[in-house]
Amino acid sequence: MSKLTTLHEFIVSTQQDFPFATGELSRLLSDIALAAKIVSNDLRKAGLVDHILGAQGGQNVQGEEQQKLDVVADAAFIRAFENGGEVCGIASEENDNFLAFTSANAQNANYVVLFDPLDGSSNIDVNVSIGTIFSIYRRVSPVGTPATLEDMLQPGTQQVAAGYVLYGSSTILVYSTGNGVNGFTLDPSIGEFFLSHPDIKMPENGRYYSVNEGNLQDFDPTLRAYLAYCQSNDNQTGKPYSGRYIGSLVADFHRNLIKGGIYIYPAVPAAPKGRLRLLYECNPLAFIAEQAGGLATDGKQRILDIPPTELHQRVGFYIGAKLMVEKAMGL
Ligand code: AHG
Ligand code: MN
Ligand code: MN
Repeated sequence: MSKLTTLHEFIVSTQQDFPFATGELSRLLSDIALAAKIVSNDLRKAGLVDHILGAQGGQNVQGEEQQKLDVVADAAFIRAFENGGEVCGIASEENDNFLAFTSANAQNANYVVLFDPLDGSSNIDVNVSIGTIFSIYRRVSPVGTPATLEDMLQPGTQQVAAGYVLYGSSTILVYSTGNGVNGFTLDPSIGEFFLSHPDIKMPENGRYYSVNEGNLQDFDPTLRAYLAYCQSNDNQTGKPYSGRYIGSLVADFHRNLIKGGIYIYPAVPAAPKGRLRLLYECNPLAFIAEQAGGLATDGKQRILDIPPTELHQRVGFYIGAKLMVEKAMGL
């Protein structure tokens, strides 16, 4: 049997990939892994806490007010970043404004993290896969001062690392620091992530398409023509593609990354600028897709080139196998 590689061993062994590496980014990735383990553990008890352990007046056994899991996950990641000391500020889906950490230690840190603590919220209560998505940048404000909005509003091309955690049939952490994409599966019995998916490459083409077809009447003619193509025998497989839509972007993306497919959420009248958020959903997954050989656009331009103007900015999102995204865009 070949030797197993833990996430920690992998992080240390790849640290030399960065010029002048100081270990800060390595420690930050370890902080993310710690928070992911805490959240994974909380999620595995979700039905019990809601329906059995916490039945009395919405309080848990410690007498704390029960909170929605996406708020619990948000707090777990913020705590890991604040305690870890490598991050000067964060922005997340659960906070209207970014947070600048106040300790002197944090203000001397070099990184900011933008994240979606729990993606796929509508699936939490029905025991379907959900995830966490994160994006890491070097700050542009001076070290030793509080983090600023400018630190948060950097284009996706400036990401130094990005990734996601999928809490599925197993918990997997997938990330890239710009040298390819690797995936690590959690062994819950010992609380350790092991390298399970080295150097992930997205197939150039695929046979899965993921789109909320309830919105079909609102799609533009180019997209409708593409979906008709997916459902026809005219594609390279000679039979219709399979429709797969979980409603958790992370889970849909992960399937398409491994097996080959496309996820599309265009702008529609109900979401005129798109449904998904540029900074903590689209940019990090676009970074992973490109690192794996895939493509991510808003239907017209590359996601990573879109200049951010606000924290919770929404965009249309086409992401997946390169040839599929190009065809869906009408190229
Ligand atoms: P979140 O739960 O973080 O708000 O994100 C939900 C997103 C995404 O995960 C999913 O693919 C999409 O919203 C589903 O939207 P529809 O229900 O409109 O299909
Ligand atoms: Mn989300
Ligand atoms: Mn969310």
